[in-house]
Order: sequence, then structure tokens, then C-alpha cells
Amino acid sequence: MPDSVRDLPFVEGTLGGLARKKHGEGKGAMKTIPQMVFRRMARNVRDYGLATTLKKTLSYLLGPIFGRRVYRIYRIDLSAFEIEVPDDSRFIYRFIDKNDTRTMRQIEDVAEWLEGCLAGKLANGSLCLVASDESVLAGFNLVSFGHVYIPLLRRHRLFRDGEAWSEDIMVCKEYRRIGLASILRNRIFSELRRRGIKRFYGGTLISNTAALSLTRKVGFREIADAGYLRLMAFSRVRFRRARG
Ligand SMILES: CC(C)(COP(=O)(O)OP(=O)(O)OC[C@H]1O[C@@H](n2cnc3c(N)ncnc32)[C@H](O)[C@@H]1OP(=O)(O)O)[C@@H](O)C(=O)NCCC(=O)NCCS
Repeated sequence: MPDSVRDLPFVEGTLGGLARKKHGEGKGAMKTIPQMVFRRMARNVRDYGLATTLKKTLSYLLGPIFGRRVYRIYRIDLSAFEIEVPDDSRFIYRFIDKNDTRTMRQIEDVAEWLEGCLAGKLANGSLCLVASDESVLAGFNLVSFGHVYIPLLRRHRLFRDGEAWSEDIMVCKEYRRIGLASILRNRIFSELRRRGIKRFYGGTLISNTAALSLTRKVGFREIADAGYLRLMAFSRVRFRRARG
């Protein structure tokens, strides 16, 4: 196991569990399961097409009893990294706070897993950089500190001082492949460094080629693969050095 992974203490938990309660999150997330599944499917069809959506939906529905996936963890050392924030006048970039309900709603519409918990995260110090095309959401990057919950691993992790975790980066479909995610990343790098953050982590499924390719392009190093397995009440996460 690589050094960088050895000191990643993960603690088991379930979605909506300890971390959310601790941070007072989850209020307002009163959608029924069919509504949540439908919204998730509609967004996935838009993002990934029907075949992938059916696969992802099946895996989501089976989640409580069976799940198997590989989640890649990556990291960038911001103290040693040359950050270039390109000039870009196409979008308005800003950090939002918990009172910006309009933008939060736009984010929750494209990232339904954040519904009902984004305000709590922001109130607890998470950073959310948003790019807008006039008043329309174009993309965002949400970053958290300290105690975080990683839904795809169903694990909690405590990040130390000087560390941060990228909870989600997303660019709305109409604005993809024009460099927006790269700009969001570089702007976040610059803000994190200003705040004294040295190590910035993130993760994604190894099947998410777009996210992994972006990750490499902006300078992250892939450090570990976390293999998640759930069978009924049994679940485990095994780490190994990232390959390929
Ligand atoms: C991943 C995502 C954020 C990329 O946003 P983007 O604004 O299109 O990315 P950029 O235009 O800055 O592209 C940067 C690099 O990422 C890679 N990339 C982006 N989209 C890609 C795709 N569909 N296929 C392969 N590589 C891709 C390329 O290397 C690209 O560099 P290039 O244009 O010089 O080839 C976007 O596709 C997205 O929101 N996906 C859904 C949400 C998601 O999966 N988020 C990541 C979860 S952590």
C-alpha cells in the first residue's frame, strides 16, 4: 500500500449517517425513493446515455444488498505545484454561501445527491466555486475539510489540517469540453493554497474516463484504488496502489 494511502483512515458508515447528522445536514431531503430514482435516472440519461444509466440504476437499487466497484483516489501537492489561472471572461466565477438558495437549487438539480445537504455543508465550511453563464449554472466544484462522507465507498474520513477533499466537480452538459472544469480546478487550487492547504484529494469511479482524464490533465497523481464490496450486511473496502 502506498504511503499516501496508508494514512487515509476510512470509517464505515451509511449515506445520511453520522457525518450528515453531525453537520445537521439532510433537512428538506424528503423525496420519496421513486422520485429520487427517477431524477437520478433522468440526469444520468442526459449525462451518460441509456445503457450506462440502466447499469447505474440497477447498481443503485441493489446498493443496500450488493455493490461492487473500484474507486480511484488522487491527490495533488499544492505547495509544489505551479498554478496557472487562465483569464476567462466567458463565465462569472464566485464562491457561494448558504444564503445563495437560487444557485444551490441549480446545483441540486444537476447533482441530486447534494439535495438537502448542500446548505449544511456550506454552513460547516465547505467551499463551493461556481461558474455561471449570466444567471445560468455552468459548473461547480465543491470542496470539504475535516470530516467527510464518501458515498461511493460508504465511508467517512477525517482530513487533517492542511488537507482538503473534492466532493464533486461537475460541468453542465452544454458547457463541456471547452476547458471549464480545468479552469474550476485551477481556481480552486489557487484558493486552497491561499488558505494554507497543501494536499488536495479527490476520487472517482475508474469507469469515469472523462473525470480521470481531467484529473491527469490538471496535475493530480492517482495514488490508490479502493475496491468496494457489499454483500447483504457485509461490506469492505480494500486499497491497492493505483495502476494504469
Ligand atoms: C468530468 C467533467 C467535469 C469534465 O468537464 P469539462 O469542462 O468538459 O472538462 P474540460 O473541458 O476542462 O476538459 C479537460 C480534460 O478532461 C478530459 N475530458 C473531459 N471530458 C472528456 C470526455 N468526455 N472524454 C474523455 N476525456 C475528457 C480531457 O483530457 C480534457 O482535455 P482536452 O480537452 O485537452 O482533451 C464533466 O464531463 C462532467 O461534469 N461530468 C459529469 C460529472 C462527473 O463525472 N464529475 C466527476 C466526478 S468526481
